[in-house]
Amino acid sequence: MKNIITTSNSINLDGLIEEAESNPGKALAREFYSAEEVFSEDMQTIFKKQWVLVDHISRIPEKGQYFLFEIANESIIILRESEDKVNAFYNVCRHRGSKICLDNEGQSNFLLCPYHAWSYNLDGSLKAARTMPEDFDKSEHSLHSCHVKVFHGLIFINLSEGAAPDFDSEYAALSPFAEQQGIATAKIAVKKEYPNVANWKLVVENFIECYHCKPAHPEYCSVHPAEKLLAFGAGPGSGPEEAVEKYSKKLLAWEEAAQAMGHLTGVYDGGNDSLGLAQAARYPINDRGWLSETLDGKPACKKLMGNFKDYDGGQTALAFNPFSFALCCNDFAVILRWTPKDALNTNIELTWLVSEDAVEGVDYDPENLVKVWDITIKQDKQITENNQSGVMSGKYVPGPYSLQEARNISFKKWYLKQLKSSS
Ligand code: FES
Ligand SMILES: [Fe+2]
Repeated sequence: MKNIITTSNSINLDGLIEEAESNPGKALAREFYSAEEVFSEDMQTIFKKQWVLVDHISRIPEKGQYFLFEIANESIIILRESEDKVNAFYNVCRHRGSKICLDNEGQSNFLLCPYHAWSYNLDGSLKAARTMPEDFDKSEHSLHSCHVKVFHGLIFINLSEGAAPDFDSEYAALSPFAEQQGIATAKIAVKKEYPNVANWKLVVENFIECYHCKPAHPEYCSVHPAEKLLAFGAGPGSGPEEAVEKYSKKLLAWEEAAQAMGHLTGVYDGGNDSLGLAQAARYPINDRGWLSETLDGKPACKKLMGNFKDYDGGQTALAFNPFSFALCCNDFAVILRWTPKDALNTNIELTWLVSEDAVEGVDYDPENLVKVWDITIKQDKQITENNQSGVMSGKYVPGPYSLQEARNISFKKWYLKQLKSSS
C-alpha cells in the first residue's frame, strides 16, 4: 500500500490510482496535477525511465561543447567528447557535490569545478584533484554518467540506474520518417523557452487533444482545415472514428500525389503498451495549396529539408513520448519539449530546425519561421495555466473527455500503468 504521509495531509496514492482507473473516460484528480508527492513518483516512474529528448546535435558541433539539461532536481551536462561521441554526466562534483557547470552552455577541453578546482576530462574521468591523501584513487571518482543515444541527430538521455529500456524497439519505426525529413543533417535556426505555471500532465493533455483548437487557436485553425483537426488534430487516434473515415478520402488523394513524388507517407502507432506511446504520421497541411505551416502557406525557408524533392504540402508528425514531439513540414521542423521543474511548473522549449545549408536572412527570416508555433504555444501556455488555476479549486472534480480527446484516455491509462510499475 503506497501511503505517502506529508506534514499537512496524507495522500493515498493507491486509492487515487484505483479511483482514476475506474473512471477511464474522465480527467485525473487534483492531486495528480498538484501534489509534490505525486510529482516525485512521476519523476521516479516516468522521467527516470523514459528516453528523454534533450536537443539536436547541431547545438554541440565541436569537441568540448556542452549544454545543460535541467529536469526537476537534476542538472545533466550534455557534452561532445569527440567527433563521434556525445556524453551525458550528472552536473555533480565527486568531491563534495557542487554543481560543476554553471553556465547553460559553453566549450572547454575539460570541466573544472568552481569550488575546490577538481577537474574532469571530457570522458568524465577525474583529471586532477589537489592535496588528496596518498590512498586516494582517481579512477573511483569519475563523473556519474547517464545513458545517451543519438537518433537522427536528436540526443536522448535515459536516467535509469541500471540498463536502459531498449531504444530501437521503441523508435526504429520512426526512422524512415526522420530520414525523409533530414533531421540528422538539419541545424538549429531558433530556440525559444516558455515557462509554464502548470503541472506537466496538464501540458501533455492539452497537446494531445485538438478539442481546444477551435476556441483557443484562431491562427492555427486558419492554417489547418477543421475536418483535419477533427480527425487528426492531435495525431493518429485523436479524433472520432467517423471523422477519420470522412477525412480518409482526402488523405488518400494526398498520399498518392506525395508517393508519386517519391515521398514517404503513412502512419505508425506504437500502441498503448509501448514504452512511450511513440507515433509517426504524414498528412497534408490542408487542401488549399499550403506549401508550409505558415500563416500564408508560403515556404518559410528557401531550402527544402531532407529527401524532399519538391513541396508536397505535407507534415510529418513524430511523437517520441508524451513530452517530446517533432512537427515538420517540407522546409522546416519544430521540436516541442516539455520538461517538468516541479509539481506546478513545466518548461516548454521549442526548437526550429532548417536544412544545414540554409542561411539566416537569405533563405529564411527567423521571425516568419517561428510565427505559427510561437503564437500557438503562447495560447497553449495561457490555457494550461488557466486550467491549473481552476484545478486548484476545492470545487474541481474530473470531468468527462469528449470524442476528440481519445489520446487523453490512452495517455491516462499509460500514465497510471507507469505509476503502478513501481508498486
Ligand atoms: S565540490 Fe567540486 S572540487 Fe570540491
Ligand atoms: Fe493547443
